[in-house]
Amino acid sequence: MASSKQMLTSALHSMEHTQGVHVKIADLGLGDGGHTFSTADTVVEVLGRKLAATKGGTAFLVFFSDLRLSDEFITRFRQFENRVTDSGKEYYVAGTSRSGIYWPLFPKGELDVVVTTNALQWLSHVPRKVMEKGTMTWNKGRVWIEGAEKEVVEAYAEQADNDLVTFLKYRKEDMVVGGMLFMLMPGRPSGLENQVTDDSPFKLIFTTLMDQAWQDLVDEGSVKEDIRDAFNIPLYLRNTDEVAAAIESCGGFKIEKMETINIADPMNARQQEFMRDPDSYGRAMANLVQSGQIKPMLEAYLDPDLTSKLFKQYAIRAANNKEFLTKNSFYHMIAVSAIRV
Ligand SMILES: C[S@@+](CC[C@H](N)C(=O)[O-])C[C@H]1O[C@@H](n2cnc3c(N)ncnc32)[C@H](O)[C@@H]1O
Repeated sequence: MASSKQMLTSALHSMEHTQGVHVKIADLGLGDGGHTFSTADTVVEVLGRKLAATKGGTAFLVFFSDLRLSDEFITRFRQFENRVTDSGKEYYVAGTSRSGIYWPLFPKGELDVVVTTNALQWLSHVPRKVMEKGTMTWNKGRVWIEGAEKEVVEAYAEQADNDLVTFLKYRKEDMVVGGMLFMLMPGRPSGLENQVTDDSPFKLIFTTLMDQAWQDLVDEGSVKEDIRDAFNIPLYLRNTDEVAAAIESCGGFKIEKMETINIADPMNARQQEFMRDPDSYGRAMANLVQSGQIKPMLEAYLDPDLTSKLFKQYAIRAANNKEFLTKNSFYHMIAVSAIRV
């Protein structure tokens, strides 16, 4: 994440001014807080230094928002509150849950900086078309879109475009003119029709292992095929053209910089260890997929026993899949900074 931090820092330097007495910052889709607090620290430190020269004594207010606040987040948030107070900084924090990023979140013109990292790949919902049995857009036999029919992928692309434009439309309202929006999201290289390259961990995580684990449950009769077919992961990896088109179509933002960044999968460093102990690799992969959106989605869809059975199968399938341990994999990310104009 060092390169995205660098880009965030330089985008903050390029902001011309902040209008209010206080600087208001929002981090949308914050997850368990692992990255979020360091992002907030970066914004406050950079703007703090920058504004000290002109305004002095500027207070910062940081809003953290997500669909749900996890226990890990709340624990980290408490430590963070203490750290904030201890450091004697003029740094105030607030956290809200059940706030979707595809909705209005703040009064008009409230925010100076909006940051969202690793959240916009999650769509507001699965496009209904892909669940219409027997149609060209029906995503039969798989739970994600890598390798799916063109019509299925197009239905996701359309939803992804609507969602990004909606997100931008509301942030345009939330933000002051001159404010800065920073978005970091997993994406795909321009010109690639597939969602992922062969060296992307997403291929294994959301396609190979997911499809195998579901198929195991179908084969052993625990889950009916129809139930599997009706479950879809609302994840779409955009390319830079799609991101630029959504920004253009919404209006109100000028792209300051857009970059693609390849981030090495942290699992690469553990390949030797995992080769020696494939079961621990299986568990690590099952934990990884459960740490994100998928677990609550599955829990809302299947009963708890079936959900844990699915993740158990997922771990077994991962332990038996050593292909990914023989090569390094990379997350392809898109980082954009845009000024509200
Ligand atoms: C992978 S985590 C990213 C966390 C953190 N920002 C980071 O970079 O590590 C994605 C987060 O986005 C949140 N999210 C996904 N869809 C959302 C939505 N529609 N509204 C609000 N948050 C959402 C999820 O709840 C999850 O906490």
